[in-house]
Amino acid sequence: MSKLLEVKNLKTYFYTDDGVAKAVDDVSFSLDKGETLGIVGESGCGKSVSALSIMRLIPEPPGKIAGGEILFKGKNVLNFTEKEMQEMRGNDIGMIFQEPMTSLNPVFTCGDQIEEAVILHQKLNKEQAKEKALEMLRLVGIPAPEQRYNEYPHQLSGGMRQRIMIAMALSCNPEILIADEPTTALDVTVQAQIRSL
Ligand SMILES: Nc1ncnc2c1ncn2[C@@H]1O[C@H](COP(=O)(O)OP(=O)(O)OP(=O)(O)O)[C@@H](O)[C@H]1O
Ligand SMILES: [Mg+2]
Repeated sequence: MSKLLEVKNLKTYFYTDDGVAKAVDDVSFSLDKGETLGIVGESGCGKSVSALSIMRLIPEPPGKIAGGEILFKGKNVLNFTEKEMQEMRGNDIGMIFQEPMTSLNPVFTCGDQIEEAVILHQKLNKEQAKEKALEMLRLVGIPAPEQRYNEYPHQLSGGMRQRIMIAMALSCNPEILIADEPTTALDVTVQAQIRSL
């Protein structure tokens, strides 16, 4: 049986005016169902670029996946169409990004953004989606969830924004959850709570 996720000899390069930055150069790892894999390394060593490559979210240009394979259940996601990728993102593989403001949309309320994810991926109606969104806000420990539901990302603290993103990523029950330093903006007690979630 194939692994849940297999990354083989991944190369992600950035082609800049100063030359080629080999952000990820020949990296391989694999993950089975139920396993937890940690990737550790100094700042700039390519952790976020590896994660973004799996989601095929590398800005192109200047970036490019220059080699290797990323197999999800044996299928190479590098050959997926953009439509297939959209179905995979969130549903099969969810991601909590290191920078909340790059993945939250400033013009939509927090509630709308979580709802959009579950309506798209879980085929819930508007009312069920609202219930699910509020439940997720409660689970990640957002105080006064009914109020926060109607607020925009800029109205929240950095830690709360990060929890909104975590709520979004968890709401679709993905088979793989990629967490890119998900708790750095949170205080220690909340970190523990989020990790157990
Ligand atoms: N858009 C880009 N253009 C050019 N170089 C980039 C781009 N994005 C990332 N890089 C380079 O890729 C390398 C890896 O960056 P990455 O963000 O993956 O590091 P990281 O391991 O996640 O670091 P940190 O622990 O600080 O989050 C860095 O040298 C970075 O400068
Ligand atoms: Mg990073």
